[in-house]
Amino acid sequence: MKKWSDRHAPAGRIAYVNGRYLLHGQATVHIEDRALQLGDGIYEVTNVIGHRLIDEDAHLDRMERSLREIGMAMPMGRAALKLVMRELIARNRIADGFLYLQVTRGAVRRDHVPPKDGPRPTLIMTMRSQDMAALAERMRQGIAVASQPDIRWGRRDIKTVQLLPNLLAKQAAKASGAFEAWLVDQDGFVTEGASTNAWIVDRDGVVITRDLSNAILPGVTRRIMLEAMAEAQVKVVERKFTLAEALDAREAFISSATGAAVPVVSIDGKIIGTGAPGPLARRIYDLYAVRAGIKTAR
Ligand code: PDD
Repeated sequence: MKKWSDRHAPAGRIAYVNGRYLLHGQATVHIEDRALQLGDGIYEVTNVIGHRLIDEDAHLDRMERSLREIGMAMPMGRAALKLVMRELIARNRIADGFLYLQVTRGAVRRDHVPPKDGPRPTLIMTMRSQDMAALAERMRQGIAVASQPDIRWGRRDIKTVQLLPNLLAKQAAKASGAFEAWLVDQDGFVTEGASTNAWIVDRDGVVITRDLSNAILPGVTRRIMLEAMAEAQVKVVERKFTLAEALDAREAFISSATGAAVPVVSIDGKIIGTGAPGPLARRIYDLYAVRAGIKTAR
């Protein structure tokens, strides 16, 4: 039986904090939480469509990996975690949205050295609805991206909550009228977007995206898109590409849980391809949607 406050709370307003479902405004963590004090935590963002989590196990695999890389274990078993995620979706009554999950090393007196017998980790989850109309518009019109220097640390493969360089890049891109920033390393190669993976299609129709390493986040959407492309025998190469190659590309697109194969129609003000979303981006979105079990047409 749900509490009265749950049943009558507006959609999207229930959060999960360390075993409790709370009204969003009352969901808090301790001021000495290590994520707040030191950025000592990791996160995941999973797409929810028609009340269903998209690419759920791939996100939980990456979450487990991020935690392992910072010397932490999963805060609870996977089956229990899945139950909590489903309960949160149900309590929020959100059909299409995003589930945000964060795990931190917990609340303890501030010290750079992680505590040996650490405090209990903090596990929080929130949900928000997604603007399907805005996404459909981006798919239809395509987006502009702006290049920015990649000033992040050396372990970008870990999905840490330390996002200051990412948000500064995104803010600068936005100020120039672009939707996303493409981050460029010191050698002139594009690493990824501020919160997305980056893809181009060369003059021969070959899809190119940066290979996995410590330089980029192993995007879940990227992974499922690659699986779908392999199955459909779309020509793909995972390698570095320069900003110059991107400017000369036939097509470009971005991917994340917030949008698969979203077409890029300009980079730094230069038109890409025809200046309209390309056919391969559309095809790859369709292939991805089938593989991810997404039925809603965009
Ligand atoms: N961002 N690269 C970066 C730096 C990201 O932050 C993200 C995701 C991706 C794409 O990963 P995935 O396909 O697993 O979403 C690539 C999420 C959506 C965010 O920070 O909100």
